[in-house]
Amino acid sequence: MQSNTIKIAPSLLSADFGKMAEEIRAIESAGADILHLDIMDGHYVPNLTFGYVITETVARLTKLPLDAHLMVTNPADYVDRMAKLGIQYLSFHPDTVFHPHRLISAIKENGMKAGAALNPGTPVSTLDELLPDLDFVLLMSVNPGYSGQKYIPVVTDKIKRLKGIAEQKKLSFLIEVDGGINDKNAPELISAGADIIVSASYIFSSKDYAGAIRSLRSV
Ligand code: DX5
Ligand code: ZN
Repeated sequence: MQSNTIKIAPSLLSADFGKMAEEIRAIESAGADILHLDIMDGHYVPNLTFGYVITETVARLTKLPLDAHLMVTNPADYVDRMAKLGIQYLSFHPDTVFHPHRLISAIKENGMKAGAALNPGTPVSTLDELLPDLDFVLLMSVNPGYSGQKYIPVVTDKIKRLKGIAEQKKLSFLIEVDGGINDKNAPELISAGADIIVSASYIFSSKDYAGAIRSLRSV
């Protein structure tokens, strides 16, 4: 069975940066819904990826909605420029800021959808007061920093819990799940309530991007 509402967001982190334009064209025609950009600063996570310059290049190369996942210690500093670069979804890790509510407002005032990203070990309850204002929650299913890691199984339960809260409180935030996702575990996450599936290594290590994306949508 195919799920039509589920959105697949390939993360460029596993793409071949030596041929970025080609990779973006290929992933776009393979049926990606959103392009996920993993922005790491070498402080919040032990890896350093890319920032404004590459983001600007990517934005020029695609019409796909761009989803910037900020793994940085100073996410508030990025809001204005990310909006100007055309980012549509912007998520930050609430443990990096003193005033997450203020940051959510700033992201939305800049015309972007605001998301909070939770590490695997951070309970869903830390978002209780923020959920009514969030457009989406990004549940990390690996520890942030690298692609190619293994899915951490307790996250499936977090998806279910979050979905339950959304239904119970009639909130409309989307649930994005990120890390270690492949055709084997995707159906379980989709049934649990995931709306957006991020995948880097599974898609980009495949010879057939369209087939890989299709296989992630199947439930
Ligand atoms: C990890 C990133 C993920 C990562 C996913 O810090 O946030 O988006 O690129 O990679 P895979 O799908 O290979 O686990
Ligand atoms: Zn990510």
